[in-house]
Parts: sequence; structure tokens; C-alpha cells
Amino acid sequence: MNQKLKTLFPNSISVQIKREDLIHPFVSGNKFRKLKYNLLQAKAENQKTLLTFGGAFSNHIAAVAFAGKERGFKTIGIIRGEELAQKVNENPTLLFAQKCGMQLEFISREEYRLKSELSFIENLKHKFGNFYLIPEGGTNALAIKGCEEIITHEDADFDYICCSIGTGGTISGLINSALPHQKVLGFPALKGDFLKEEIRNFAQNENWELISDYHFGGYGKINAELVLFINHFYAENQIPLDPIYTGKMVFGVIDLIQKNYFPAESKILMIHTGGIQGIQGMNIKLKNKQLPTIDIYV
Ligand SMILES: Cc1ncc(COP(=O)(O)O)c(C=O)c1O
Repeated sequence: MNQKLKTLFPNSISVQIKREDLIHPFVSGNKFRKLKYNLLQAKAENQKTLLTFGGAFSNHIAAVAFAGKERGFKTIGIIRGEELAQKVNENPTLLFAQKCGMQLEFISREEYRLKSELSFIENLKHKFGNFYLIPEGGTNALAIKGCEEIITHEDADFDYICCSIGTGGTISGLINSALPHQKVLGFPALKGDFLKEEIRNFAQNENWELISDYHFGGYGKINAELVLFINHFYAENQIPLDPIYTGKMVFGVIDLIQKNYFPAESKILMIHTGGIQGIQGMNIKLKNKQLPTIDIYV
């Protein structure tokens, strides 16, 4: 469903947001798209267990835990940070995953960096038995296939498609299904130049650009300005935004409109990729830092 923003923009620019966050209460936004074909593949291979990776507040961990429970898979989450093992009860995301039946395995940050190496995966197989591996963030070729279904022929009128970027999977799907006259703008939620290469691995077209000015200091970093923006955006449009991904992208798009980046009469579609479950955990961090918190509406 596309929702028109109530905010009025200059130069007859119109902005809609695709409410992928409403697809499913727990497997929301791009998570649903990325898991769809992977879960079908795991069933086709007769796999019983899904194993994946994630950080303390990972939307992907929460989604795999719930989807696995719904579809009858055992789930194992390899979590970055040994210290979190003692703090599961204080972490809404990990607690949710555990309640869904996910077995959580905590490893050091050094070990976590090995997550794509064959020998590391083999060791995990020795430890846990056979499993269907879903990479961090859920991004693989089947995930891209799912993300290609986010935009449809009904979106043909838009000039710009905008989305947040973590691992680059979602934008790759959008690039593959965008029409030649459409430009896909990606807003990385983290610092670093590696994303272009990741995206080129999965995306065939050249109709895209990264806008790297709205990561707010890096992955998971936020400030009072972003929190106040998210709260104001909700008050105006009744659309909740997560602070790690979609909040930064929407902030960026609106800032660029104000800076006349887009030609007059541009039609912009922003993709809401979900992530609302992360707000509770982020608010705990914000309170500890004595920063304003995100109003929770869900
Ligand atoms: C809510 C949300 N939006 C956007 C992204 C970024 O997607 P991708 O990792 O496919 O670039 C993620 C992370 O995967 C996410 O959890």
C-alpha cells in the first residue's frame, strides 16, 4: 500500500511511502521479502533448522525467530557480543527471539567477523548439526528475488524510488525491477564505501545512486535531531519510522527536497522497510544517554 504524505512540499513535488512495514506484524518490511524464497528453499531441501547472524537489536534476528516458529523450523541465532549473554532480559529484541524459541549463541566481535568464512561455518555445523544458512541481514540471491517484488507495475509513475541500505540486498531488488525512467536512491545507514561493490554483485542496472550524507555518524548512531524528526513525522503523518534505517532515509529525502535536489514535479516513492521492533531497545539506549526518546505507537 502506498500512502501519500500530508506534508506539503515545494515545486509541486509529491511524496508517497510504500508501507511494507504493514505486511506482517513481526516479519515486517524487507524481512518478509527476503525470507519468502529462502523459507521455500529450506523446505524444499527438507531442512529442519535455520541458522543466521545478527547484532543486539537486529530486525533480522527477530524476523527469522518468528518466521521459523510459524513455519516449523528450529532457529539458531549467532549474536555479535559475548557480553549480551547476561543481558537478554534487558534486550527486547533478543528476549522476543528467545520467546519464539530461537537458540541464541553469543560470540565475540572478533569471531563474528569470520561469519562468511567456510571454516567458520563448518565449525558451526559440527556444533549444531545441519542447517539452512541465512546470511546476516538476510541478503542472498533468493532474498534479492523477493525484494524484486516490492515495486510493481502500479508504481510505474514514480520518478524516484528511495530506500535505506544496510547490506545492500533490498536496493538490489529495487534496482532490478525499476523501470528505465526511474532512478533508485539508496541511503546507507552506515559509513563505508564497500556497499557499491555489494550492490553490483546482485544488481544488473545502472539506474541508481548512493546518498551517503545521512548515516548520522554510523550504524545504530542517532542524535536528538533525528529523534525529534521521527516524532514530528509521526505526529504529522501517523507513520512510525525506525531510527536505524527508515528514519534516516526519510530525513534525507525531505532534507534533499528542501535543498532543491529533485526537479520540480518529481514523484518520489519512499520504501518503508519496517524495523519498528527496534524502537524499544533504542529508547533504552537513549534514556541512558539522557536524550529524548522515540514515541512508541505500536
Ligand atoms: C528495517 C530495515 N530497513 C532496511 C534495511 C536495509 O536492508 P538491506 O540490508 O537489504 O540493505 C534493514 C536491514 O536489513 C532493516 O532491518
